[in-house]
Amino acid sequence: MAKDIKPVYFQDGVVKMVDQTLLPGQWKEREYSTYEEVAEAIEKMIIRGAPAIGVAAGYGVAMGAREFAELPPDEFRVKMNEVLERLAITRPTAVNLFWAIDRMKKLLVDNNELPGKEIAELTLAEAEKMRDEDVAINKAIGEHGHVIFEDGMNVLTHCNAGALATAGWGTAVGVIRSAHRKGKRLHVWVDETRPRQQGAKLNSLELAIEGIDFTVICDDMAGHVMQQGLVNVVITGADRVAANGDSANKIGTYSVAVLAKYHGIPFYIAAPLSTVDFSAKDITDIPIEERDESEILGLVSGIELIGGVKVYNPAFDVTPNELIAGIITEKGIARAPFTESLAAMRDSQ
Ligand code: MRU
Repeated sequence: MAKDIKPVYFQDGVVKMVDQTLLPGQWKEREYSTYEEVAEAIEKMIIRGAPAIGVAAGYGVAMGAREFAELPPDEFRVKMNEVLERLAITRPTAVNLFWAIDRMKKLLVDNNELPGKEIAELTLAEAEKMRDEDVAINKAIGEHGHVIFEDGMNVLTHCNAGALATAGWGTAVGVIRSAHRKGKRLHVWVDETRPRQQGAKLNSLELAIEGIDFTVICDDMAGHVMQQGLVNVVITGADRVAANGDSANKIGTYSVAVLAKYHGIPFYIAAPLSTVDFSAKDITDIPIEERDESEILGLVSGIELIGGVKVYNPAFDVTPNELIAGIITEKGIARAPFTESLAAMRDSQ
């Protein structure tokens, strides 16, 4: 399998996505030619991970514009609003989705006078730009972030934040990848990440492809390996970072951050500035997606025999800023107080 993983791209008139629900067993690309199909792919987690969802949404808008390009201008505008609204209700927590939709909305408004065909070309070019930018941004995150690792360190990570969760390279795993390619020997503890097992299924696959030493543990083993002195640093991605640095990531990340604090282990977030929601002041402004009970019930064979089992399945949690040593972005490592450091990064050229 190639080291340059491309989870989403446009080719021959269709959007192609690696079906991540089949990994690691099967590497299969699916093709989507309508915005509705792209929206469903996001909902079904064919594509997942905050930056990847954002790029997919960008392509979704482009596919919508292609579908409706021949309509008269008024009807085209109505349809494009439907496209934006449909994509916006696919998943609630990853802010990159809304960042991408807003960027596309601005493009549509700025080019309101152009014929649908030209808008279709512009939106596709913008989606391609978002994809290319995301890869470059992830590499910049890696360049800034690799300094947190010293040769021989043990790193713990939760969920997956590699090339598959982005347009390529990755955020948290991108930082690990950058360090590895600079010759630092690292060992990575990969949290399984229940219930969807993104860590065990996707991070493991990417680390194996890259040739990085790793060990999978169940989520409830993170405290034990920390207590044994086997973790030097923790790094995860994020789905939405509030203006004050409070960071939403896959469910279980908060527990890992609390454990890291207790054991005196630095806990880092790696995320592009597009993941920072400056309109969210703190944890209270971050919506948390709740997913179907089948994701949990399906893990426990025979549980249906008990009958009436209640399940709570929040897909994300929020790590408060006081547990975070630094937020690694494409502009550098933001440190507390994050309200100032993140805003300064946003405002710098
Ligand atoms: O529900 P998912 O699989 O979309 O959640 C993914 C995560 O939480 C990732 O850790 C996060 O998006 C960071 S991705 C670079």
